[in-house]
Amino acid sequence: MIEIRVGAVESTAKVLALPVRTGATLVPIDHELASALSAELTEFLDDVDHSGASGTVHVLPRPGRNPSHVLLVGVGDGAEADWRAAGAAVARAAWARLTSLTMHLPISAVAAGGFAEGAWLASYRFRLTSETGADTPKLRRITLAATAQFGAEQAVAAARAVVDAAVLARDLTNTPSLQKSPRWFADRISNAAARRRGVAVKVFDEVELRAAGFGGILAVGAGSARPPRLVELSWRPRGARTHVVLVGKGITFDSGGISIKPLDGMRLMRKDMAGAAAVASAVLGAADLDLRVRVTALAPLAENMISGSATRPGDVVRHYGGLTTEVQNTDAEGRVVLGDALAYAARRLRPDLLVDLATLTGASHVALGKRTAALFTHDDALASALCNAGADVGEPLWRMPLADEYQSLLASDVADLTNAPAPGQAGAVTAALYLREFTGDLRHRWAHIDMSAPSWSDAHDGPLVKGATGWGVRLLLRWLATLQPLSSSSI
Ligand code: BES
Ligand code: MN
Ligand code: ZN
Repeated sequence: MIEIRVGAVESTAKVLALPVRTGATLVPIDHELASALSAELTEFLDDVDHSGASGTVHVLPRPGRNPSHVLLVGVGDGAEADWRAAGAAVARAAWARLTSLTMHLPISAVAAGGFAEGAWLASYRFRLTSETGADTPKLRRITLAATAQFGAEQAVAAARAVVDAAVLARDLTNTPSLQKSPRWFADRISNAAARRRGVAVKVFDEVELRAAGFGGILAVGAGSARPPRLVELSWRPRGARTHVVLVGKGITFDSGGISIKPLDGMRLMRKDMAGAAAVASAVLGAADLDLRVRVTALAPLAENMISGSATRPGDVVRHYGGLTTEVQNTDAEGRVVLGDALAYAARRLRPDLLVDLATLTGASHVALGKRTAALFTHDDALASALCNAGADVGEPLWRMPLADEYQSLLASDVADLTNAPAPGQAGAVTAALYLREFTGDLRHRWAHIDMSAPSWSDAHDGPLVKGATGWGVRLLLRWLATLQPLSSSSI
């Protein structure tokens, strides 16, 4: 990862990056060098027609002079998202060309943290090439320079912990399913937990899952040569008042099962554990940030495959806690594993708040597009807290209804529920209604987030790079920080 450090303003920087506001005004940074350059820069801004929009960078080469390059970096109106976009744009512009640069910042922790976060997230790569040096940046170091001390170190350190968690989620999600079995995922999380104080992990193997009655997880994993797991990962700091349980869908590959997917729909299904990756990474991030909130992640992990032992359409599954599901479509497997985990959370863990993240339906993508996730909850306060956190970090949520008029679509002739309501009708809503059945008396303190589409990006786009986005990690950490008893630490 690029080294990002906080330093004083120096006039010897070879490559200087300066922020430019909307309307092409240089951010007034009281610095000799910048003022010495002022006339030259104003002329250049005019020549290149710089708008100051965040995410734009114009490079002014000054051969034979010092600084040798000036990067004029749009920071829009200076909101947090603008600084993230600016960091991402600078990292991209410098990536292959420059070894180091000095970015001048106003005295603002939001600017420092946002810029660092954007630069790190945009310079993330996941490659499994033969040559290890391929696709590594020339850019090694960014110095964030300001004229006074203002807590930039803490902001950058917090951004680093957040980025580390998002990067773990991206790595897990990008990893091909050949490697990523349920056991492999559980081992990665167990190793990460072992390196942290105050973090505990329990992994249920297939024998323990059977003994405890996790019939949904076992049924979805039944067709795979690689048995399912349930990971329970917890961070329990002193002084916490709130206990949050986060549940994440962990299908390490979704072939659809016997209700097999067509190739186009299957090709990307290694990402069907992005919810599990996000919740586990968020717990590790909460520990690294030392957040004063108790958080438990539950990751039901299974590979949805086809074989002589696979679950058939028409089979009936008994979940943890006793509810039964008629599996009418083996491709609606996410809700079947989540049902078990939600029931376990509601009955055994008894948290104050329960939130699940899942790549659950194609329908949520149809409704909201690539970048916005669907939020379902009865709890208005929880809805606005999650929406605010999402808006702040650039992981937007849009609230959808838990509409009772569709409840009858969940009826089965033989079981409590069917997992596959008639197609073509509010698919994201009926999936949410199905999950609600497992939340018991926590129904009104539960939220479901369907992040099927935003878990992946087809393009380099601001802080996102092609591939897994780590969606939800930054949202969850921002939200969890608001649940601390004293706002001792904010991120
Ligand atoms: N994992 C898929 C949903 C999905 C699709 C996530 C595309 C990300 C991108 C899920 O298991 C699934 O197959 N859902 C079905 C449900 C249907 C059979 C009721 C769907 O959305 O078509
Ligand atoms: Mn499926
Ligand atoms: Zn799935």
